[in-house]
Amino acid sequence: MRVTIIGTGYVGLTTGVALAYVGHEVTAIDKKESVIESLLAGRPPLHEPGLPELFAEVRRRMRFDVALGPETAGADVVLICVGTPPQQNGDADLRYVEEAARALAEQLPEDADTLVVNKSTVPVGSARRVEAIVREGLARRGVRAKVAVASNPEFLREGSALYDTFYPDRIVVGAEDGGAVERLQRLYRPILEQSFPPPKGLARTDGQGLPVFITMTPTSAELCKYAANTFLAMKVSFANEIAGIAERVGADVTEVMRAVGLDRRIGARYLGAGAGWGGSCFGKDVRALLALGEQYGYEMPLAAGTLRVNERQRRVVVDKLQAALKVIRGSTVGLWGLTFKPNTDDLRDAPAVDVAKMLVGMGARVRAYDPVGMERARREHPDLGVEYAASPVEAAEAADAVVLMTEWDEFLHVDWQAVAAVMRGRVVVDGRNALDRAALERLGFRYWGIGR
Ligand SMILES: NC(=O)c1ccc[n+]([C@@H]2O[C@H](COP(=O)([O-])OP(=O)(O)OC[C@H]3O[C@@H](n4cnc5c(N)ncnc54)[C@H](O)[C@@H]3O)[C@@H](O)[C@H]2O)c1
Repeated sequence: MRVTIIGTGYVGLTTGVALAYVGHEVTAIDKKESVIESLLAGRPPLHEPGLPELFAEVRRRMRFDVALGPETAGADVVLICVGTPPQQNGDADLRYVEEAARALAEQLPEDADTLVVNKSTVPVGSARRVEAIVREGLARRGVRAKVAVASNPEFLREGSALYDTFYPDRIVVGAEDGGAVERLQRLYRPILEQSFPPPKGLARTDGQGLPVFITMTPTSAELCKYAANTFLAMKVSFANEIAGIAERVGADVTEVMRAVGLDRRIGARYLGAGAGWGGSCFGKDVRALLALGEQYGYEMPLAAGTLRVNERQRRVVVDKLQAALKVIRGSTVGLWGLTFKPNTDDLRDAPAVDVAKMLVGMGARVRAYDPVGMERARREHPDLGVEYAASPVEAAEAADAVVLMTEWDEFLHVDWQAVAAVMRGRVVVDGRNALDRAALERLGFRYWGIGR
């Protein structure tokens, strides 16, 4: 099928590369020239495991452009994958989605028979909004192209975006008409039937069954994405709330949540206590759900509590440092990890960035290291006020304490004797409960975890 992707970020690029791999003719559009230049030069503009290799394999079959034309607008399927950042009031900002819809309305040719799909996370009513914009634009131009709009929320995780795209748990389609459902079923058939040869290094794991294809109304599809993300964020916030009480009563939250998660009704994932969640989606989506509730005069205490616990949790790391060092001003802190989670370069709403700001604001000298996030940190947070180091050990040089904020593999396999040799103090704050406490204590470190 001829597929056009509008917005070539984490979602759009991953989806485009995967759809090209399974045999579709894909054109990726991004209005940012630097993104398209980078793609044309063969370099993905973002960090995602496996993407450089797979992109190298399929890029000659893909096309790239900075704007839609009649041919790309009139593809069989157009996937809108642009950003939907939060507005001041928490509501999702639909300006990029609307911009994409207007561009489509301007470019769709008379003979088009196109399915426009909202893959971006959008508030309820957005499928209707996109349809109205496209229809008005076409009417203004006097063009009678055949267009339908569907919702197809995306559930991939940064850091394993390709795996999630090839082997999703479910594909959700919200559409009013059967033709749209049938077309999306055709688009995703190789994935639904798992009929493609697994890409190198991206084999299906055992026990991963066939994806479930679920159809519903566009409104249900739009709401289900917010519900899913709020639930995941709530699981983590719940573990963090338990971590706080575990510390007070003298329990270990990792033991508690292991026992809790072994209940199949609950499940073990997303129950890790630590410095809290971040990223481009959880915070914005929970806020958007709260904003939706407000518009309907409907209180949503679970979603509100999920946010509150997470905000408090970022402070917990700083409180622990203060308890360990007594005085933050004048101390040197090695900050390990900047990205909001491992295996991504994404710094949006990263707890580490907030913690760095708090520490610098309190007068600490912060030496940061991240395996892939430092270039972006320099670019996106030029005033962060931290020094950047070339390795975890270099970040620990003369440090009174080291704080683990992102559980990159590199930090889990660090040579702690080398770290001890360069540090001034012996405090380790494990903001992800990912380090080996006993081993660290044997080496003479004072270990502070979260909730243990
Ligand atoms: N990142 C994730 O893990 C994830 C997961 C599931 C869903 N989502 C949702 O998917 C959407 C995209 O997220 P993302 O993280 O890929 O965003 P992103 O910021 O990485 O990428 C968005 C891209 O769209 C481009 N763009 C914006 N307006 C455009 C326009 N009018 N025409 C062409 N290009 C345009 C931007 O230049 C940017 O490159 C969001 O709604 C997000 O909530 C994201």
